[in-house]
Amino acid sequence: MLKEIDEILTRATASFQAASDEAAIEALRVEFLGRKSPLQTLASQMRELSPEERPAAGKSLNSAKARINDLLKEALANLTNKNIGANTFLDVTLPGREPGVGTKHPVSLVIDECVAIFRRLGFIVAEGPEIETVRNNFDALNTPVDHPSRDPLDTFYFSDGRLLRTQTSPVQIRVMESSEPPIRIVAPGRCFRRDTPDATHSMNFHQIEGLYIDEQVSLAELKSVLLAFARELFGPEVSIRMRPHFFPFTEPSVEYDFSCIMCKGQGCPICKNSGWLEIAGAGMVDPEVLANVGYDPEKWSGYAFGMGIERIAMIKYRINDIRLLYENDLRFLKQF
Ligand code: PHE
Repeated sequence: MLKEIDEILTRATASFQAASDEAAIEALRVEFLGRKSPLQTLASQMRELSPEERPAAGKSLNSAKARINDLLKEALANLTNKNIGANTFLDVTLPGREPGVGTKHPVSLVIDECVAIFRRLGFIVAEGPEIETVRNNFDALNTPVDHPSRDPLDTFYFSDGRLLRTQTSPVQIRVMESSEPPIRIVAPGRCFRRDTPDATHSMNFHQIEGLYIDEQVSLAELKSVLLAFARELFGPEVSIRMRPHFFPFTEPSVEYDFSCIMCKGQGCPICKNSGWLEIAGAGMVDPEVLANVGYDPEKWSGYAFGMGIERIAMIKYRINDIRLLYENDLRFLKQF
């Protein structure tokens, strides 16, 4: 009987390995494990064996049945694997999906670069909140109560009287009120104004503010710092110029232009044929502002400046519409 069992096993192994579809496997299951299977026939002949032969034969029958069950499972598993390979819904041979590697937003790139330059010039980074008080954004900055920038048509107010800061200048107030001079900080951050969006205006934008307070600070120092900044940012051939201007919190106030990096001052569409790019507002900190934060204007003096990050990004990366920076189109953002 042991020999017969061996023969059945050999046949079963060859048959299951050759079976190529579900129907063939099912037929083999019936043939080798069904009620009329050769193993079943042998089992019914058990009682004809002598008592000495029976245990070995029983054991061998059982293990043969278990082995054929395994053959059945293997055959079914092979069939499933083959189907997975052939089916369109899951092709296990395809490479996995690569998670995309992000890039820094151009606004972040410009902030990082400006901060790095000012750090080398001895400035440290300060920060303030985007929701500000009227006092920090306007009053303490010496802005008259009837100044047009306070109009709710220009500034976003909350019902509790606070506002979305319209500039990074309130950080000047926060820093001066929480520390003693000398002070040398830059404060990058988001600002908000109620502008109608177009190619050069956005309701939210970024500025980087600078503030230097010490004894006997001069306008010449402001000029040298901004010249050094301009050349680090745009190259050694850049020159700068100051034009008289007005800000409530600086006196005198100036606007800073950088010579156009595109046409080197010759005149082109970027600089509207003037050869100059408006970059920063600046000036000597108004003594009123120093008094507002409790500094002695007789002892302390300083300069401040503020510039638009988006404007620098647009010049640097030749972006012709500010709205591109806020649409989050990956085809645009991937280029940086
Ligand atoms: N806060 C001014 C603006 O938003 C810029 C500025 C900053 C001017 C500091 C002078 C000094 O236009």
